[in-house]
Amino acid sequence: MSDETRPHRTAAVIPAAGRGVRLGPGAPKALRALGGTPMLIHAVRAMARSRAVSLVVVVAPADGAAEVRLLLDEHPLPDRAEVLVVPGGDTRQESVRAGLQALPADVTSVLIHDAARPLVPVDTVDSVVEAVRDGAPAVVPALPLADTVKEVEPGRPGEPEPVVATPDRARLRAVQTPQGFDLATLLRAHAEIAVDGEGATDDAGMVERLGVPVVVVPGHEEAFKVTRPLDLVLAEAVLARRRATDAY
Ligand code: CTP
Ligand code: MG
Repeated sequence: MSDETRPHRTAAVIPAAGRGVRLGPGAPKALRALGGTPMLIHAVRAMARSRAVSLVVVVAPADGAAEVRLLLDEHPLPDRAEVLVVPGGDTRQESVRAGLQALPADVTSVLIHDAARPLVPVDTVDSVVEAVRDGAPAVVPALPLADTVKEVEPGRPGEPEPVVATPDRARLRAVQTPQGFDLATLLRAHAEIAVDGEGATDDAGMVERLGVPVVVVPGHEEAFKVTRPLDLVLAEAVLARRRATDAY
């Protein structure tokens, strides 16, 4: 079958193996409750809610795959979505790679979605999928910035840092997930691009380094990442508003 006639199959990989150091002590971030339900379950439902997604691969903390499997079995998900669980790695990049390795051969495109963005609306997911199916090899949802950004020369902790530059805010975007990819392109990025230290925090950045074009589609303010304690307060408020305004 030629590439043009090969049917689309889109899977989602959810890296959920991080500890959540910036959120403070407690359970791994993805297993913390939001509105009484683990953040990871919200994230899986957010992907499975898209009719385009027929497989979700959850990348669990390396020592927590059995616990995550139990959680998934306890919480109802749409029937059409198959959910696999694999153990993650020490960096987000290694975790994403472990998820990609679990994909069956008929998958043609993939969404990479942070478990830490549990409240992304389905319309945002669908617009990323659509842009990939329309032929973009890499798609990121993103929003304009509210704050002006300064580039600094990082100094010693506690010391004032000299400003090096002020990029034009109108040209900057804050990127979110799910990021969508032609699977062959993302696999090539993972095979060819080595990233030092912490690894890549952004999958599209690796594809950019291949020289492959990446495009931005509109993100959504509810796709914010739960990173620090105040983000939990905001997430609870968003859930409470959804519960009050629809039969969510
Ligand atoms: N992630 C992962 N494997 C890792 C590190 C991160 O799967 N080794 C995942 C996290 O679970 C999260 C996503 O990558 O869903 C985005 O990372 P981040 O928000 O930085 O989460 P943590 O790394 O858990 O948080 P922190 O950096 O504060 O420790
Ligand atoms: Mg992290």
